[in-house]
Amino acid sequence: MKLTLSVIKADIGGYVGHSASHPKILDKAQECLKAAKKDGLLIDFHVTNCGDDVQLIMTHKKGEDSEAIHKLAWDTFVEGTKLAKKLRLHGAGQDLLSDAFSGNVKAMGPGVAEMEIEERQAETVIIFMADKTSAGAWNMPLYKMFADPFNTIGLVIAGNMHGGFSFELHDVKEHKKITFNAPEEIYDMLVFMGAPGRYAVKAVYHRGTGEVASVSSTQRLSKMAGRYVGKDDPVCIVRSQGNFPAVGEILEPFTMPALVEGWMRGSHHGPLMPVAQPQANPSRFDGPPRVISYGFQLADGKLVGPRDMFDDPAFDEPRRWANQAAEYLRRHGPFEPHRLPLEEMEYTTMPQVMKKLEKRFVNL
Ligand code: 13P
Ligand code: 13P
Ligand code: MG
Ligand code: MG
Repeated sequence: MKLTLSVIKADIGGYVGHSASHPKILDKAQECLKAAKKDGLLIDFHVTNCGDDVQLIMTHKKGEDSEAIHKLAWDTFVEGTKLAKKLRLHGAGQDLLSDAFSGNVKAMGPGVAEMEIEERQAETVIIFMADKTSAGAWNMPLYKMFADPFNTIGLVIAGNMHGGFSFELHDVKEHKKITFNAPEEIYDMLVFMGAPGRYAVKAVYHRGTGEVASVSSTQRLSKMAGRYVGKDDPVCIVRSQGNFPAVGEILEPFTMPALVEGWMRGSHHGPLMPVAQPQANPSRFDGPPRVISYGFQLADGKLVGPRDMFDDPAFDEPRRWANQAAEYLRRHGPFEPHRLPLEEMEYTTMPQVMKKLEKRFVNL
């Protein structure tokens, strides 16, 4: 059975500040998607939040980039925004860059990760959702899952993964894409993948079967709006078991709280902390950045789950490590490399300050 799994997310208002989502906003989204399921547009859905970002996890038969599905997500976010304005939530409608829907939410603010798949006998999927970070945050984890045998032993000992995976990278500045084959092209690939502010992994494919293994949202809000409107707080879908890495191989990269862009005012580097969903309420210096992971088994499109995958004491040490890294970085205050490099700051509120001081710069 051909089935589409769509994860569409937006920050439509923070409660309190940028730290979390208001329960009434989640209830509203639940209500909207419930009606769409009753109407037969959706097979199933799950609504959750990572910090101030609301994720709509949906299954349907409309394929990728379906106008009906995107409109449903857009309308849901618009309804949520109305409520957010009424509750005077912080940054109500933050990620909705347009006043009217124009066919596809991709260029309109919300983040989108969608895959059309042939549902397997046991279709295991893991959905990662992050807050206080940015497109590109999945680069290192995806590399480890699908190209690093020190992370994924299946690449070595499982015959059905031994042929490797291909990675589709998007240049978020020049709007170009390129595909690399792992393992033989990893040195070329890492030149780009190792610069996640510019090149983000959009998709991963099984090289033997061509099946999609993973898709991410790669929207860069500031690049679309031309100004700082908050970070992109991405989502990522990964298929598991069979031809794909085992669940534990997919979660393993997050034991290393890698430094990502985001945190306070979207202008800092900070460690990506893996947490259970109830802990995804970034407060210290509006962070540190969070990632949650929900596991599902799909059954004729029904979302059996979620299982909150980072709700495991085995991730206590990575969390402690993330807190130590956060503490160390915070001591740098307004200095790089805690603060983002100047070229990245151009997409924040910094240009306003620069403009004010422009005339005071004199030639040496
Ligand atoms: P079980 O023996 O618990 O089914 O685990 C199999 C496995 O491959 C775990 O990675
Ligand atoms: P969000 O991108 O999660 O809205 O955070 C913005 C911010 O400025 C946090 O300090
Ligand atoms: Mg926000
Ligand atoms: Mg956010």
